Amino acid sequence: MLDLLITNAALADGRTSMTIAVQNGKITDVTKGPIAGAKATETVDAGGYLLSPPFVDPHFHMDATLSYGLPRVNESGTLLEGIALWGELKPLLRAEAIIERALTYCDWAVAKGLLAIRTHVDTSDASLLAVDALLEVRKQVAPYIDLQLVAFPQDGVLRSKGGIENLKRALDKGVDAVGGIPHFERTMTEGAASVRLLCEIAAERGKLVDMHCDESDDPMSRHIETLAFEAQRLGLQGRVSGSHCTSMHSMENYYVSKLLPLIAESGVSVIANPLINITLQGRHDTYPKRRGMTRVPELMAAGVTVAFGHDCAMDPWYSLGQADMLEVAHMGLHVAQMTSQEGMRACFDAVTIHAARVMHLPRYGIAAGCDASFVLLQARDAIDAIRLRPNRLKVWRKGRLLASAPATLPTLHLPGRPAAVNFEP
Ligand code: FE2
Repeated sequence: MLDLLITNAALADGRTSMTIAVQNGKITDVTKGPIAGAKATETVDAGGYLLSPPFVDPHFHMDATLSYGLPRVNESGTLLEGIALWGELKPLLRAEAIIERALTYCDWAVAKGLLAIRTHVDTSDASLLAVDALLEVRKQVAPYIDLQLVAFPQDGVLRSKGGIENLKRALDKGVDAVGGIPHFERTMTEGAASVRLLCEIAAERGKLVDMHCDESDDPMSRHIETLAFEAQRLGLQGRVSGSHCTSMHSMENYYVSKLLPLIAESGVSVIANPLINITLQGRHDTYPKRRGMTRVPELMAAGVTVAFGHDCAMDPWYSLGQADMLEVAHMGLHVAQMTSQEGMRACFDAVTIHAARVMHLPRYGIAAGCDASFVLLQARDAIDAIRLRPNRLKVWRKGRLLASAPATLPTLHLPGRPAAVNFEP
């Protein structure tokens, strides 16, 4: 007797009428049509809707989330005012409040089928208050969310006093990955030195790397080149990510033609953050204003793993957000003009399988042997999911139901026409 049988599901790769068998939190079988003789404690008819592995957010700032308005709002909406505002907020932070806000965000995430999040945590402050708070959150949410922490020296690891020591202490406490912010160091040379140093720390300690890299409109900001070079030099292929990389949008095409193969060869993945890139970049432009997101389709065509992150939600940098990775994919699709069928599917992959690859999530996917973690969406396929950003009908993790919502469709009462019940857009 199986624990769970999901019938008549569509999958993101285009297969339909699929049956998924679950036993002891794992997928035991994925078959087209019924599985002969299969009996389960619970059977769920997916009704032809899309069953996806859970959404994955590979880039977030959980120590700042839901702090919108504390102690004031970001009036200009710029990255630099956001960083300054975060500096004002930091002395006011209390561990209990960070934990409470982070747990609330994790509840939002589960309701949206988002079950794995990589969050950066600011290590600039010697107290490591935010680190301790998010380590506690990681422990508390472990039964329902895979939370991965990146030691993030927001004020610059070389620029701020004690930056390296604080980051190392955060790693000692159990933070999962090494972060950085080379473009925020005082000079390009210092930025490159910080990349080298941080990659060496990661190599010594066997940690993953995820650096905020070139988050500006400066075409000469080229720390992604150093990051890729260091990943190769230190044998960190497949373990390093460059986040944002927005300067690539403004770089000269010839240089990019040399850079893309280097990134691909070094096995560095790239994480774009469409909601934030489109609002924070191009702020020094008059018109035309640059979009500022990195070169997503070109990176993908070069064989680079590209994922999309949410980055911020209701914090000093971004006043909106609801933990909905389909909103992120929707924005990414538009900003990158990825409107082909293949491009739209790649945007769905950027918030699911590509993001899972970036985070090195084990047993992720819908195949025998994977964890029985899924989200059932009220949409017929991956493209429809981005178009509609629909209800998450059911969210399971390792076979356990974590969230559910009714399928809802409106009824239209148009003059001169019979009522249209269950009107499907
Ligand atoms: Fe970020």
